[in-house]
Amino acid sequence: MLDHKIIYNTKTISKDYGRRDYLDKSEKAIIKLLGPKLSYMSMLDMGVGGGRTTKYFGPMVKEYIGADYALAMIEICRAKYPGMYEFIEADARYMNRMEYDRFDFVLFSYNGLDSFNHQQRIIALKEIKRILKPGGYFAFSSHNLDWQELPELFKLNSELAKLKLKKDTTIMFLRSYIRAGFKNLKLNLLNKSISMERLIKKLRQNKKGYLYDNSLNGKASIYYITPNEQYRQLEEIGFTDIKSFSKQGEQTRSLNKLNEAPWIYYLCRKKWLK
Ligand SMILES: C[S@@+](CC[C@H](N)C(=O)[O-])C[C@H]1O[C@@H](n2cnc3c(N)ncnc32)[C@H](O)[C@@H]1O
Repeated sequence: MLDHKIIYNTKTISKDYGRRDYLDKSEKAIIKLLGPKLSYMSMLDMGVGGGRTTKYFGPMVKEYIGADYALAMIEICRAKYPGMYEFIEADARYMNRMEYDRFDFVLFSYNGLDSFNHQQRIIALKEIKRILKPGGYFAFSSHNLDWQELPELFKLNSELAKLKLKKDTTIMFLRSYIRAGFKNLKLNLLNKSISMERLIKKLRQNKKGYLYDNSLNGKASIYYITPNEQYRQLEEIGFTDIKSFSKQGEQTRSLNKLNEAPWIYYLCRKKWLK
């Protein structure tokens, strides 16, 4: 397995993130919820990547700082927004240079937090809490272990069904067929499992775990967590007023709705009292 940082620092991946330019429905819902309060906020966009969110949040907040541990990402942001915002190289797990209670709002968008193993994730969450002001907001997304379609991701039949829908020529179809077969085999090997359904069931019993799901071209494992466990984890660390958003960007705690989504956005606040 390659280190996530090495992967994010590659030209192909950093350029890909640099080209992204949209907000998803949950991110829009979070902006709507925070509303005019954003204009008073000091914001840290942690794991800013290629600056996808900068264009939207930058002009809305009082102070905007983008941070990433991958220098390639920071360089892309600096080139995209010359002199407009501060972009710094920083690791979410070790933000020693940042003082306590520094920010009103920290964002860690698009599952950046899922690069960590469990221990490191807790360290990062505690660091984020430390640099937030009491009552400060933290928004992030994370892969959903209870996503209804998760087992389908690893089924060769589901891949092949997708192919049948396409009207390819025979040669193209055969090529896609072989590629789907290889992808399926690769994922089984990476996850060291001949039955992904069984593995997912086991992870679900543990409420969290790691999967190779072909993210980052299958080069790194990704942390998955159930929504209920994510709520519990945040509460244990000292976050409160936790909200979650469905695939459609609707604020909800309904598991039926949340589990329609491969990843979920959460918005929470640092507790006022220590
Ligand atoms: C999936 S990308 C998302 C990029 C961007 N936030 C977006 O929404 O397009 C995750 C980003 O988090 C960064 N990242 C991962 N672990 C990090 C860490 N420990 N400290 C800082 N940045 C990190 C990666 O370098 C990458 O740019």
